[in-house]
Amino acid sequence: MAWKLIQFCTLLLLCTSSVIVSKEVHRTKCADFNNTTWREYKQGTKVRVQYLLLTRQNANCASLFSQDCLNHTQQHTAFFNSSLPTKVIIHGYRAMGNKPSWVNALAQAFLQSEDVNVLVVDWVFGASFAYNLVVENYKEVAVRISHLINQLTTYGSTQESIHLIGVSLGAHVAGFVGTLFEGKIGRITGLDPAGPMFKNADPYDRLDPADAIFVEAIHSDSDYFGISIPVGHLDFFLNDGMDQKGCARSRLASILIYFPVYGYMICDHMRALHVYLSALNGSCALTALPCSGYEEFLSGRCTTCEETFGSCPQIGLLKNSGITMSPLPKHQKVYLLTTSEAPYCAQHILVELKVSPLRKSAEVQVTLISLNGAETEQKFSLQTDKTTYKKVVGHPVCLCKIDSIEVKNTGAWFYRQGHILFESICISEIPNKRGISPLCVENINIGRGAPWLYDFVQVC
Ligand SMILES: *[C@@H]1O[C@H](CO)[C@@H](O)[C@H](O)[C@H]1NC(C)=O
Ligand SMILES: *[C@@H]1O[C@H](CO)[C@@H](O)[C@H](O)[C@H]1NC(C)=O
Ligand SMILES: *[C@@H]1O[C@H](CO)[C@@H](O)[C@H](O)[C@H]1NC(C)=O
Ligand SMILES: *[C@@H]1O[C@H](CO)[C@@H](O)[C@H](O)[C@H]1NC(C)=O
Ligand SMILES: *[C@@H]1O[C@H](CO)[C@@H](O)[C@H](O)[C@H]1NC(C)=O
Repeated sequence: MAWKLIQFCTLLLLCTSSVIVSKEVHRTKCADFNNTTWREYKQGTKVRVQYLLLTRQNANCASLFSQDCLNHTQQHTAFFNSSLPTKVIIHGYRAMGNKPSWVNALAQAFLQSEDVNVLVVDWVFGASFAYNLVVENYKEVAVRISHLINQLTTYGSTQESIHLIGVSLGAHVAGFVGTLFEGKIGRITGLDPAGPMFKNADPYDRLDPADAIFVEAIHSDSDYFGISIPVGHLDFFLNDGMDQKGCARSRLASILIYFPVYGYMICDHMRALHVYLSALNGSCALTALPCSGYEEFLSGRCTTCEETFGSCPQIGLLKNSGITMSPLPKHQKVYLLTTSEAPYCAQHILVELKVSPLRKSAEVQVTLISLNGAETEQKFSLQTDKTTYKKVVGHPVCLCKIDSIEVKNTGAWFYRQGHILFESICISEIPNKRGISPLCVENINIGRGAPWLYDFVQVC
């Protein structure tokens, strides 16, 4: 019976899509998010959910996605193609009760990178009240979305072909949808999953690796609005996972909380989304390395992925983010440095100094310079009891495009070491995929005066 219904629906869609739909597109207004206000919310039902469908055939005009394929007023459902993967975008808390500004960009980025169905969940109505009350709604929203997915599977979609993308609180909505499907959904991507009220929650109640075949999270504000613990198979931490380059420091943000400067407050939090958008855009690779912590990562102790993963994970749409390890790891933290603006990609460069023993502590600044103007500075505090130093820096371009290296003897004059003899200064790419040997300079004596500059003759 059900099968017949599907066949009938399919037939109906096939027959009518070309005729009716093309007319309807012109006649019907494009569907969009509803706006809401706190006052409206206090009066009525707590949760209202609608779904907007975007495909390559109607990329610029969303249609309200009806779950009832026999409803003739809802013919736009016809653009849904169950042979294609489906991306379900789930927003989070909406303080202002309006449409998230990034939704269109994310939907378009998916449509450009793959031929997919994009379903945008609009639950603004239940998401625009005091945060703690909104949190009470998230499971109800998840139950609604699970009904939608059940419907998609009756159309012929497989659970594995479904990819839920949740932003902030939306990540936990996605997680609970995954729980309802006992982890059989294909993939969940949590973009800075919400922290407040979730950090100490039971894994059942928040995003966790059991929620889908592959669960990944990108953390960018884990000390404030984001969750600080790993919640996926893979957890990408952008920089330290807390403070993002180009965003006001969080301390400043906590002062700004008393002022309506919302954009500043959520700059770190939204960075996960913007970096994900950049990854979908594909202009450069956002490659991360597994490490137990940020300090370890910066100190050059995590330079390869092979032993752990087979290959390094990348933010984006590669299967399992590009790792070949089986079974998948759980709660594996991976780190990457970013630049302050789109496309955010930084090449990880390991800077290694070997210094002759010093009589006094000193400070030096190493600057990597590329002809395109990119400069990356890194300070080193040199101690009397240590002769080798390592640090990982993020440079906007690869090792091959570093043209010179500048070293300055800095630090306060009263403790500045007169001369520092460097046995070697080496820079290398991590992970070293292409097997390029480090660029090194040897036996340099750097005095207090002018900075020392070395031009590499690049061979790679
Ligand atoms: C929601 O508000 C925005 C900005 O005021 C407006 O442009 C948009 O048309 C509104 N949407 C609906 C569905 O009323
Ligand atoms: C959106 O607004 C329309 C018209 O006011 C209403 O009928 C519908 O229920 C609203 N949908 C949601 C999800 O709030
Ligand atoms: C078809 O959809 C419209 C709009 O959602 C609704 O008002 C109507 O009751 C539906 N008709 C049927 C037969 O379900
Ligand atoms: C649905 O997608 C499949 C796979 O790309 C394609 O072969 C088929 O033609 C599509 N169907 C429609 C109705 O566009
Ligand atoms: C996407 O890439 C193009 C060029 O490749 C660039 O102009 C655009 O700004 C990028 N968009 C984002 C969101 O990174």
